[in-house]
Amino acid sequence: MDLAERRGVETEVYQPAEDSRLLAAVAESRIDADDRVLEVGTGSGYVAERVAEETGASVLASDLNPHACRQARARGLGVVRADLTTPFPESVFDAVLFNPPYLPVDELAERDDWMELALSGGETGREVIEAFLDDAGRVLAPDGRIFLLVSSLTGVDEVVERAGEAGFSVAALRDESYPFESLTVLKLIR
Ligand SMILES: C[S@@+](CC[C@H](N)C(=O)[O-])C[C@H]1O[C@@H](n2cnc3c(N)ncnc32)[C@H](O)[C@@H]1O
Repeated sequence: MDLAERRGVETEVYQPAEDSRLLAAVAESRIDADDRVLEVGTGSGYVAERVAEETGASVLASDLNPHACRQARARGLGVVRADLTTPFPESVFDAVLFNPPYLPVDELAERDDWMELALSGGETGREVIEAFLDDAGRVLAPDGRIFLLVSSLTGVDEVVERAGEAGFSVAALRDESYPFESLTVLKLIR
């Protein structure tokens, strides 16, 4: 890795935070060793690595950000550069994990870089989540489930409603409150 690549990995990849840790904790308590798992938007690869190590499951990581793909690969993960679930075949994953970009744009300072891709959910905060919901069911195996991290800044009720419209049944598995937001992990099944 040359200097420019190293800078990109250090400054343009979302590093694990409370949301990452909450998703990893919930996922690793609900994934079995024989599950085939996809983490969408893996960033540093922290969640995917934790789930693989703690459960023994086979975990594939993906991200649109090439710096993130490189950082996740450096953890020894299998990584595919991908836009959400678009390139993956039908019915192959028992679990799909996603800690999406979820901030409404007015919560963000003006940015135009890979970190914006990691944080911005468009005007509502739900634009990437909605695109994800439109295709994610296609890649789920029968009885597969999705673990989706959602913030109060994004609107949990609105995400639940949209997931229902996309054909999912939704359960809230765990909530955590912080000074400026609360985080919820949703489980979605067909
Ligand atoms: C909030 S970060 C979460 C990173 C990591 N999973 C974690 O929990 O620490 C969101 C990630 O989604 C990725 N992302 C954003 N839009 C995407 C898209 N359309 N397809 C794939 N990944 C995307 C970003 O590059 C970023 O790495």
